[in-house]
Formats: sequence, C-alpha cells, structure tokens
Amino acid sequence: MTYHEQPLRNSCILKIRQINDEYERCAGKRKTYYVLTFGCQMNAHDSEKLEGMLIEMGYVKADDWREADFVLHNTCCIRENAENKIYGSLGFFKRLKQTRPDVKIGLCGCMMQQDGVIEKIKKTYNCVDIIFGTFNLHRFPELLLANLETGNLIVDIWKEHSEADEDLPTERAYKHKAAINIMYGCNNFCSYCIVPYVRGRERSREPEEILREAAALVADGAKEILFLGQNVNSYAYGFANLLREASKLPGLLRIRFMTSHPKDLSDALIETIRDCDTICRHIHLPLQSGSTSVLGAMNRGYSKEDYLGLIEKIRREIPDVSITTDIIVGFPGETEEDFNDTLDAVQKADFSSAFTFLYSKREGTPAAQMPEVDADAVKSRFSRLMDMIKPRMYESNRKLIGKRMFVLADEVSKNNEDLLTGRADGNMPVHFKADKSLIGEMLEIEIIDCKTFYLLGRVLEWPN
Ligand code: 5AD
Ligand code: SF4
Repeated sequence: MTYHEQPLRNSCILKIRQINDEYERCAGKRKTYYVLTFGCQMNAHDSEKLEGMLIEMGYVKADDWREADFVLHNTCCIRENAENKIYGSLGFFKRLKQTRPDVKIGLCGCMMQQDGVIEKIKKTYNCVDIIFGTFNLHRFPELLLANLETGNLIVDIWKEHSEADEDLPTERAYKHKAAINIMYGCNNFCSYCIVPYVRGRERSREPEEILREAAALVADGAKEILFLGQNVNSYAYGFANLLREASKLPGLLRIRFMTSHPKDLSDALIETIRDCDTICRHIHLPLQSGSTSVLGAMNRGYSKEDYLGLIEKIRREIPDVSITTDIIVGFPGETEEDFNDTLDAVQKADFSSAFTFLYSKREGTPAAQMPEVDADAVKSRFSRLMDMIKPRMYESNRKLIGKRMFVLADEVSKNNEDLLTGRADGNMPVHFKADKSLIGEMLEIEIIDCKTFYLLGRVLEWPN
C-alpha cells in the first residue's frame, strides 16, 4: 500500500458516509446498494470487498437489486455470454433511469479491462455513473465520491497492478466460510483465455500475510477457508508448504483451493493433501481437451497421457479424492478425432463432476486468429459430451449412497425451503432435511439418494 492511499480512502469513505447520513435525515431512510456479481469465485470474493466498502460508506444492502439506489456490476468476460448478460442488465437500467434518474450505476471488474468496451458503454449506455477495473478496486470510494460531487461519469482503468489492496473491509457472504486470495493474475497465456490480459501478471502474496488473514477469519467464525488463485500450483512461495502451515491453524476445519493447473501440480502437493485431514480431498483440475494436438494449440503444457498419468498418480496416493474438471468444446481446429480423444479422456478420468463450455472467441487472444469450427458440429459435440458425462456423474454419486460423511451446512436449499444445502469434503452438493439453526455447522450425514448433480442425505449427528 502506498503511504497516502489508506488515509485518502478513509477520508472518501467518511465523506460519502456524511452524504448518506444527510440523505437519511431528509428522506427518513438510508441509501441502498446491490452488487451484481458475474463470473468466478475470484469475482465473488472481490464483491465481498466492494460490499465491505459500501457498508463503510453508509449504504445498506437492498433486498431486491431492482430497487437499489446504487447498483454495481462486477463484470466477467471469460466468454461472450457473460458479456451479453451485462449488456442486458445495462439495457434494463437505461430504461429504469428514465423513471428513477437518481439511481446510480457502476461497472467494474474484468470486462472493463478489455479494449473497446468503455467506448461501447459510453456510446450506448449513458445510464452509467462510474467505471473502474480489476487493478484499482481499492480506489472505489475515491471514484464514487468524485461522481457524487460532480455528477459526471467517472472512468478509471489501470493497465496493470501498481498498488497493494491488502486490508480492505470485507462483507463476507457466509459467516462459516471464507475465501482468501493467495495470488492474483495469470502467466500461462492459454491461447483461448482472456484472463492474463484483464487480470495481469502473476503476483503471490507473502505466506505470513495469508496465514494472518486465515487466523483472523477463523477467529471471526470461519470453519472453512478457500485459497484462491488462477493457478495455485505456481504460488511463488510453495503451495504445498502454505497448505501444510494453514492446516495447523487451530479451529480451522477445512481448507479448499482453486484452481490447479495440471502442468504445475507437484508431488509435494499430492502428499500434503494425503497427509493433512483438514485439506479437502477435492482437486479441480481443468482438462480443457483430451486431444494432445489441441492441448498444444491451447498452450496448456501437457499431453493427454500426462494428464491421465497425473490423475492415476493422485488416485494412487489419495484413493477417495474427488476430481472435477473444465472442458472446452470446439476450440479452433478441433477435429472429430480430437473430440473423440476428449470423450476417451472423460471415460478414463472418472471425474466427479465437469463444467463444459462452448469455445468462445475472445478478441486479443491468439486463438481468435485461428479458424473456427462449424457451429453445428460444435453443438453436436457438446451434446455428445454431456451424454457421456451425465451418467458418469450420476454413477460417481450413486457409489456414495449409504456412506457417512461430514457436510458443512451452507444455507436453505434454493429449490426447497424444508431442506438445507451444504458441501461434502469432495465438494459434492448435499441436500438434507434440517432446521435452519444448523446453518454453519459441520454435520455428520448419511447419503440416502442421489441425482446427477447432487446428493441427498440424512443428518446423523450435530453438535449441541
Ligand atoms: N471459451 C470457452 N471457455 C473458456 N474458458 C476460458 N476461456 C474460455 C473461452 N474463450 C473456460 C476454461 C476455464 C474456465 C474457467 O473457463 O475451461 O478453465
Ligand atoms: Fe486462463 Fe489458462 Fe490462466 Fe486458467 S491458466 S486463467 S485458462 S490462461
């Protein structure tokens, strides 16, 4: 953190709080906010920091995003459909502002770092009040104050990281679990991926800093901590060591991490997961494609055989591990033969779950220059891949029926108010009947049934 930065942020926060207090005195109610988060867990965690700052600035969270006085979009640009959702939302607010001109609209996050986006927004969506990017999240109060004082559109995009944003206030989405950034950015430049361009070069945080944050979160009620990074396996100070140290923290029941790159996953990490009970037996290990030649064109740094060999090694050491993956269908130049290699890898890898994506061209990436695959062929491959994956996911769940496992109860189930939802050690969602008062507790559960995407359980024991 630069020497002047935190006092400046604090003074801006204070001034906005005074403006909001004054508003309450006149209007009899407080200004409300809503942060709409798009994309990955990294963004979800950034949104916790944005909410933390908004609350310090004297806003209260709106029940419904349509009613909020300030709506901040934390954007994603990993695929075109993520961008389309954001433009859709801006269209909604453009219309809404005709009847409620006082509503403030903000945009931040990955999509704002992309060339051409700001110009498009300025031209088409005059409803926007403030825009910032991924490298200056901590400047949010300063930018918002500038807008409140002038009424002008404030745009501030940095091209790279230049100040630390440690110690931002955080409004955690869950009391019992929390995320920690262990590193930012990505150096891998997979040829399809926009992330290195919008999140910058890899920067690892010092282990002492991370462990201090973890201890503070545990003291504040976190039972599970998720270590976040685009490629945690290239954490500069040794990821296995960091996990081992974190697993010694008294009171911490579970550690998760995301995401692992197959090319950098070390034996030391496998041994650490095997040896430390606190570390969840779950590895999210994106395959992307099962074809060695496509993997080469993707610049992934491993072959189909390397990947399957790695899985075999992991399973040898940690037999009950759950391995999940990401797969892209229709990468430029992918042939039927390449696709069959993906199907074959899926058949052999025995994933507990897989996220499948249609390839989406991202301007500025090397793959955007490569010839695209015919759209109908891609659609057909996608549905064949789903047909291959779904019964395997079901089978992987079915094998767990009758087993007992610990589940951390997260929340009331989205589709059934009588059920709670939590995650098993292997990250499988589990639904079970239990009282709301058990949210945040680690429960012992017997799996009694399953569907393709989740398990159903019965609570055996809970703490008194
Ligand atoms: N098109 C489709 N999927 C993509 N991903 C990243 N970039 C693209 C793209 N251009 C997927 C990868 C990655 C996940 C987070 O998103 O599978 O692992
Ligand atoms: Fe993108 Fe590859 Fe980095 Fe993952 S590892 S964020 S897919 S460039």
